[in-house]
Amino acid sequence: MRNLTEDNLTEIVLASLANCTDPRLKDVMTSLLSHLHAFVREVEPTPEEWFAGIRFLTETGHMCDDRRQEFILLSDTWGVSMLVDAINNRKTAGATESSVLGPFYVEGAPERDNGADLAPGEGPGVAVRGHVRSTDGKPIAGALLDIWQTAPNGLYHVQDGAQEEYHLCGKVRTAADGSYRFRTLKPVPYAIPTDGPVGKWLGRVGRHPNRPAHIHFIVSAPGFKPVVTQLFTEGDEYLDSDAVFGVKQSLVIDYQPASGEWRASHDFVLEPDAA
Ligand code: BEZ
Ligand code: FE
Repeated sequence: MRNLTEDNLTEIVLASLANCTDPRLKDVMTSLLSHLHAFVREVEPTPEEWFAGIRFLTETGHMCDDRRQEFILLSDTWGVSMLVDAINNRKTAGATESSVLGPFYVEGAPERDNGADLAPGEGPGVAVRGHVRSTDGKPIAGALLDIWQTAPNGLYHVQDGAQEEYHLCGKVRTAADGSYRFRTLKPVPYAIPTDGPVGKWLGRVGRHPNRPAHIHFIVSAPGFKPVVTQLFTEGDEYLDSDAVFGVKQSLVIDYQPASGEWRASHDFVLEPDAA
């Protein structure tokens, strides 16, 4: 391996994978290195520009810890999380569409009664109700809705020392007729974290960091594919410019005024595991 040139370098680097015994890794690395070399050939970065890229990734890594995942934020804001999601969640017609999980989901939220209030004493609240059904239209009893959202200050409980653990989170199980209901706060739009390299990058490319108001759900039931999704608010100013590209029209719901608060409804549709 001598006399490497601009012309033969890519070919020689790809050939260096010849002894990789994991076929998937070999395919992935062949594709990654081919695209990366093609990118460099197209962009022709100066050494300073290449180092700026390396510094950006280094800063992204330094921003990560147990509670903060800047690389997920990067993947989200570059649309890669939603692309991976789309590829892995091709749905049969009628099944609830998925959306990005986001970095603020915490497993282990307490299971609460169907009808529970996730925000006792706080308002303005919204009574959310609906059914969980199978793609064949049958109600699914005992389906689990794992729910989380931000407080009115735009922060999830994990981001905010002032909130109790699992504030505005909970698991609710559907009744025998597949129905569910719970009360929560009407969600607000919020900005994804802007204090790290991803936030700075958004500014540099002329983008805002906001997400339209939403409630997160993971809906699951034995024998069905779980769906990770969100319900967005009709009329929200950021529906068409979500910083993480997560909005789908089928997930946009209306909030109707009701007794000084709000009500909203949505049916979730799961597809059988084997479909
Ligand atoms: C979220 O909706 O929680 C979220 C998704 C992607 C990036 C940041 C936050
Ligand atoms: Fe969110």
